[in-house]
Amino acid sequence: MSLISLNKISKTFTLEGVDVRALVDVDLMIEPGEFMAVMGPSGSGKSTLMNVIGLLDRPSTGAYELDGRPVSLKMGDRALAKMRGTVIGFIFQSFNLLPNLNVLQNVLLPSAYVQVTGHPTSRAKQLLDEVGLSHRLRHRPTQLSGGEKQRVAIARALMNDPRVVLADEPTGNLDSKSGEEIISILERLNHKGTTLLLVTHNEDLAKRARRIIHMKDGRLV
Ligand SMILES: Nc1ncnc2c1ncn2[C@@H]1O[C@H](COP(=O)(O)OP(=O)(O)OP(=O)(O)O)[C@@H](O)[C@H]1O
Ligand SMILES: [Mg+2]
Repeated sequence: MSLISLNKISKTFTLEGVDVRALVDVDLMIEPGEFMAVMGPSGSGKSTLMNVIGLLDRPSTGAYELDGRPVSLKMGDRALAKMRGTVIGFIFQSFNLLPNLNVLQNVLLPSAYVQVTGHPTSRAKQLLDEVGLSHRLRHRPTQLSGGEKQRVAIARALMNDPRVVLADEPTGNLDSKSGEEIISILERLNHKGTTLLLVTHNEDLAKRARRIIHMKDGRLV
């Protein structure tokens, strides 16, 4: 059974009476354990696709099944958030760490909403150790380099042991060396079984995925 199944998914934004068709009739199946890259020009709908898959946004029409469960267009915010919290880990280009929390507190955040297995603080420390940041637990995000911030974001995304990690241009704000470190961490994660969806403009990074899909004007091409 597919982990992610999109059937004729469309997303239309209406701004001041003008429709923007960000996704048009997208059919996509993603199997457990896949590593898939999403490419396409700016504005082609890559982030919208990630946001719909990641339950941060609702499609306008179409059917979506995640981990065997139908995602209803009518599901409330709380129900969506609960499902997201247990199945999805998100990594963004701009890191999205909370500036007033230190590294450890940022990683602990997702566990506030979901029951995690084991002791949350020891799990967070373990994850930070795996991304090479055990010496930065009390630092604030502003006191970290870009690559370090993204490694914190990865640890945070993994806190609830998600089935899928969605990474939307995770190396877009990083120099090539830090970007390479981030991709290596994500690859390692995928080798251990986590399904990985990576949006990137970088051909070389995309080639590391086992499947590449291309988008144009909201459609898969
Ligand atoms: N909240 C929104 N309201 C209105 N239009 C939106 C909204 N979000 C995205 N769009 C529009 O939908 C289209 C797809 O946007 P999206 O962010 O998915 O593109 P993208 O492929 O991720 O581009 P980039 O490579 O620049 O990140 C664009 O035309 C964009 O302007
Ligand atoms: Mg985008």
